[in-house]
Amino acid sequence: MGKIRAFRGEILSVGTDPRGDAQAVRHEDDGLLVVEDGIIVARGAYADLGEQFSDVPVQEIAGLIVPGFIDAHVHYPQTDRIASHGEQLLDWLDRHIFPAEKAFVDRAYGDEVAAFFLGELLRNGTTSALVYPTVHEQSVDALFEAALARNMRMVSGKVLMDLGPDGLRDTPETARGESDALIRRWRGRGRLGYAVTPRFILTSSDEQLHVTAGLLTDHPDALLHTHLAENLHECAAVAERFPEAADYLDAYDRFGLVTDRSVFAHGIHLNDRACTRLHESGAGIAVCPSSNLFLGSGHFNFGQADRHGVRLGLGTDVGAGTSFSMLHTSGLAYQAALMREDRLDPFRALWLATAGSAALMHIEDRVGALAEGQEADFTVLDAASTPLLARRTAGATLAERLFALQILGDDRAIAATYIMGECAWRRPENSDHRRT
Ligand code: GUN
Ligand code: ZN
Repeated sequence: MGKIRAFRGEILSVGTDPRGDAQAVRHEDDGLLVVEDGIIVARGAYADLGEQFSDVPVQEIAGLIVPGFIDAHVHYPQTDRIASHGEQLLDWLDRHIFPAEKAFVDRAYGDEVAAFFLGELLRNGTTSALVYPTVHEQSVDALFEAALARNMRMVSGKVLMDLGPDGLRDTPETARGESDALIRRWRGRGRLGYAVTPRFILTSSDEQLHVTAGLLTDHPDALLHTHLAENLHECAAVAERFPEAADYLDAYDRFGLVTDRSVFAHGIHLNDRACTRLHESGAGIAVCPSSNLFLGSGHFNFGQADRHGVRLGLGTDVGAGTSFSMLHTSGLAYQAALMREDRLDPFRALWLATAGSAALMHIEDRVGALAEGQEADFTVLDAASTPLLARRTAGATLAERLFALQILGDDRAIAATYIMGECAWRRPENSDHRRT
């Protein structure tokens, strides 16, 4: 028998979309999570399991245990450019982002930023992410090495962009060769996965988009990760370059890039045809509300996506996104939905930030629901982490507490983050206002 231990406390998870499944929410007021060698072997009410596991050491957890958050779209090289003033997407890329990404030619710089980035994820309760590096092969090595050292489940892959600016361009040939080499180098190591990552359709030549499809054919376990229909100027440029395509999604589709392993960030400006095609292909959207506000891109249309049954997850999209907190991002998703007269239920928001994102990334068998057999990546939420949250959640129902955490919560509400049953981050004692 391996290392076995148990965690006792309040446990909440939402394993499937609660919109269509009354059984999706799983909650134990006083629960027990039994973990052996990082894997959940039992979960249930303490009253039901306590006796059976009475010989297992138990750690009492004060706070609400939820699955570790899963950020379905984030750029680690943009960490240092978060909060860059003044532009919409295309000008923001030219002015702030492309110059910053050129620095990742330096492996040591990539190592330093990757370490800070993963620390920031853990501080915010995020245990997995689908991550953009840069065009540089070594930027992937930096991230994967740092994730491997922390035993984190991360998915990433070299950015492909042969139409980029000087210092940030590859070619169809190097895109192919470097991606193949990275996949060979990292396959099967730790908890890492690979995503073929053309930046967006405007930064790849037709030839490189064909190379992208070839990589996906030859590596069927890889994801496709890219951006879609984020900004109206971007959409106009896509329509101009691909006049024969029905819409932006169709431009990708014509290269064979729309499958059930495709994750598209944003999808703000989609027509019904594209939503129908997303549904029938099984491709998904990483909804990124803080980024969409910050760049003035628009508000994601949950009603339209849900009418078509489009698969969804949630992403911060830092550095266009303004926070690493998936709690805060969930709160903004609620507000984005309301801008289009839709309602985002707090349990559905938690699903988007955990199992929904996991399903987009095809890791839902491993993480996202704190289910038996899954890896024990979890986060402890403190609904009394600030005086205002404490006051608002006193005597509140579970739904009210969860919603208050999403609207008012941020990194301060993360009491601890666990990776495969091991504490990877704990909030310093003196940041708990009740003890100061
Ligand atoms: N589209 C192409 N590149 C980017 C990027 O770095 N960030 C965002 N938000 N959209 C993009
Ligand atoms: Zn992005």
